[in-house]
Amino acid sequence: MLSKVLPVLLSFCACYGGPASDLETATNDHPTFVTALYYTEWSFYNKHYPIDIPLSHITNIYYAFAKIDLKSEGTYWGDENIALEETIPLIHEDTMSSFGARDENLYSYDYAKTSFEAESIVNSTGLIGQLLQMKELKKGLKVSLAIGGENTNHVFEEATSSERKTERFCQNLVNTMRKHGFDGIDIDWEFPDPKSALKLSNLIKILKDKLSSAEIEDGMLPNTYLLSLALPLDVSSLKTYQFETLRSYVTYFNLMGYDISGPWSELANYHSNLYSLETKSVSSVDYSVQYLLDKIDKTQLILGMPNYGRSFEGMGAGLPFRGCANIPGIKQEQNQCIVNYHNLPPKDYTEVHNYTAGSSYAYSNKGLGIVFYDSPQAVRQKANYVKDLGLAGGFWWDSYGDNYRVKENRSLLYSFVDELGGLHMLKMGDPSSNFRPEQADGTIASSYATHCSSPDLQIFLSIVSSWFFFFLVFML
Ligand SMILES: *[C@@H]1O[C@H](CO)[C@@H](O)[C@H](O)[C@H]1NC(C)=O
Ligand SMILES: *[C@@H]1O[C@H](CO)[C@@H](O)[C@H](O)[C@H]1NC(C)=O
Ligand SMILES: *[C@@H]1O[C@H](CO)[C@@H](O)[C@H](O)[C@H]1NC(C)=O
Repeated sequence: MLSKVLPVLLSFCACYGGPASDLETATNDHPTFVTALYYTEWSFYNKHYPIDIPLSHITNIYYAFAKIDLKSEGTYWGDENIALEETIPLIHEDTMSSFGARDENLYSYDYAKTSFEAESIVNSTGLIGQLLQMKELKKGLKVSLAIGGENTNHVFEEATSSERKTERFCQNLVNTMRKHGFDGIDIDWEFPDPKSALKLSNLIKILKDKLSSAEIEDGMLPNTYLLSLALPLDVSSLKTYQFETLRSYVTYFNLMGYDISGPWSELANYHSNLYSLETKSVSSVDYSVQYLLDKIDKTQLILGMPNYGRSFEGMGAGLPFRGCANIPGIKQEQNQCIVNYHNLPPKDYTEVHNYTAGSSYAYSNKGLGIVFYDSPQAVRQKANYVKDLGLAGGFWWDSYGDNYRVKENRSLLYSFVDELGGLHMLKMGDPSSNFRPEQADGTIASSYATHCSSPDLQIFLSIVSSWFFFFLVFML
């Protein structure tokens, strides 16, 4: 059965991206939205691969992170082998990290093992090779290279400490982007202090300039390469940014709408609350969004949401705590207290969504603690918020955390898209503008995409394919 179904599934996927722009022109009387996921290089070690991201539901992927090499003003990979060389299966049997179509029934280990032995399993060359293959599966999907990450203020400062260094750094970033077939650059400078604000503006300005030159060389329309910038939630930090400069160069600002509270806080509390709480902390996602809407265009702002919770050994919001909640079977670092969403709510915990706070929590029925996170209801509330304010869309940190198992019907990404109004509400990149890596270095991403010629057939298939994932699961 699988040997017949799989090529069909892949060809439906292959056709899926193409028609989105047809659908868009057919129904361009409504705004469309971005849905983006950060894919972290280290989620490879959890057997979570880029292909586990549900292609049908996303428009953008950020590959995190390229690190900054101060000796060359260039970048390097955290693990070059897995980024570029390791053999990575395009189809694999690990159910924990699997996406929608790979429900337990379809891809149970035993089932997969017996079925795949007869299949010629397609492998990818490195995580980045797999991302390129995914762009073939979904034309118009945009994959950006994210640079930096946590605690990178110092390295960014160094890399931009003179005009000459900044020029070289930007040129290297653009070269790396083109060499590996990315569609854009995501700057995760976490976070500039007041004295580095000017350097950040200068970096973004020069980077945009280099991207524009690359667009001309690559025969692309202006603003095809994406330039995005991660933003902290804290308004006192946001005051550092020179938005009047940045807004004219940046495609998307990715607001990190999480980590408001954690083990470093005085009291246990929500960490991604949409609205302010009665307790001490005035921080909220909405508070920062309102601040930003005065500074940048609303269609530049992507709302960031967590695919994880933060736990506390305590009794509730605004109350003292001792450390991480004790959750049997879940390992947490004491300075993080992070629990992936796909493990939430834990066994013997009760989930509650707080509409007033615009986020959720689960408390232990045995008094072991509390975890704050976004439930599907919280994400639906945020989807309406994005729609009402006309923001660009939503992104999540990170793709490994979500629960894509269709039967459990808990995926945050699926809930968000559903609440927006469905797949036709997603903004698809122009497939013809997808960068072809052979332009840069002579290599071509391996492709098994089926060519779909008839536009009517494409539209038909795009509608069918979205239901097909669900259908598959119940059939097999
Ligand atoms: C794919 O990779 C696996 C694991 O490395 C290997 O055993 C298999 O032969 C590869 N398949 C193909 C078709 O290259
Ligand atoms: C929801 O949050 C509000 C605001 O912080 C708080 O007053 C209320 O008690 C919370 N309700 C629940 C059920 O947690
Ligand atoms: C999934 O859950 C949502 C919200 O609870 C509900 O509206 C929807 O019908 C469910 N879908 C399925 C397939 O059960």
